[in-house]
Amino acid sequence: MPYLELNNVSKSFGGASVLKDINLNVEQGEFVAIVGFSGAGKTTLISLIAGLLKPDAGLAKLNGLPITGPGPDRGIVFQNYSLLPWLSVFENILLAVEAVNPNWSPAQKREHVEKYIAMVNLTPARDKKPHELSGGMRQRVSVARALSMDPQILLLDEPLSALDALTRATLQDEISRIWLENKKTVVLITNDPDEGILLADRIIPLTSGPGATLGPEIVIDLPRPRDRKAINHSDRFKEIRKQVIAFMLDSKIDRHNAVTRKLILPDIEPEDLDRPPRIHSGKARPIRSSEIKSETVEVA
Ligand SMILES: Nc1ncnc2c1ncn2[C@@H]1O[C@H](COP(=O)(O)OP(=O)(O)O)[C@@H](O)[C@H]1O
Ligand SMILES: [Mg+2]
Repeated sequence: MPYLELNNVSKSFGGASVLKDINLNVEQGEFVAIVGFSGAGKTTLISLIAGLLKPDAGLAKLNGLPITGPGPDRGIVFQNYSLLPWLSVFENILLAVEAVNPNWSPAQKREHVEKYIAMVNLTPARDKKPHELSGGMRQRVSVARALSMDPQILLLDEPLSALDALTRATLQDEISRIWLENKKTVVLITNDPDEGILLADRIIPLTSGPGATLGPEIVIDLPRPRDRKAINHSDRFKEIRKQVIAFMLDSKIDRHNAVTRKLILPDIEPEDLDRPPRIHSGKARPIRSSEIKSETVEVA
């Protein structure tokens, strides 16, 4: 039985279809990447798994049970850090640990929090507030906070998209190392095929919306640990990347061909700046195309 199971899940907002017939199975301990364009419905998909949204149709199951709401079995990391600004790194993580383990002793909680701060290399910044941290450091706190709750599955919604390329690469390596050490089930949402291929066991493209759905999965059979420099020269890596990008671009082109829109131009003619402005009852106003009278003049 798969650990996470989505069967024909669909979601619309106000009649507008965002996700349609999503089918996804994720096994325990697996790292799955879902790659899609911006606006395709990636956050909607992760929110359905998180239990923050309910599907309109289909069934979402975790560990054999229907998902009815959020729970501590799912740790979520969002793109926008979502830390409490008035709490330090230590306190932000402690809050999560206390919520999940209210009966632990203060010493036990402290030790646990310190362990996860160390795991993301933030011990020197443990007493800093979010505004004193760089984007990469804030995102590390979010990752540590999610892991500290010891969830069964980590849901990562474009956790690295807002970061510069170098910080992004460092954090990708950190996520990879943490996953190898903890073997949590991970669903990573990303807009970067390379990121998905570097980190995941399988990569699945999400077609562009409306009515986005998952495309064919590709098993990433590259050996681990993966070295980002070496992987760039791997023919298999290039092949997978080519397949993913080709599928995504095709899904986008199909959409564009399917939509026909009538273009309605405004009823205003561009102004000729070389001529003095036309004055009508003391006020300049634009010339409307509908007011222009056509006249045929014969030239001898
Ligand atoms: N709560 C909501 N109400 C209405 N529309 C929404 C809501 N959430 C998302 N959408 C729409 O659904 C589409 C997909 O959004 P989202 O899942 O955030 O995309 P992504 O994360 O891939 O960028 C967008 O067109 C967005 O405007
Ligand atoms: Mg999103």
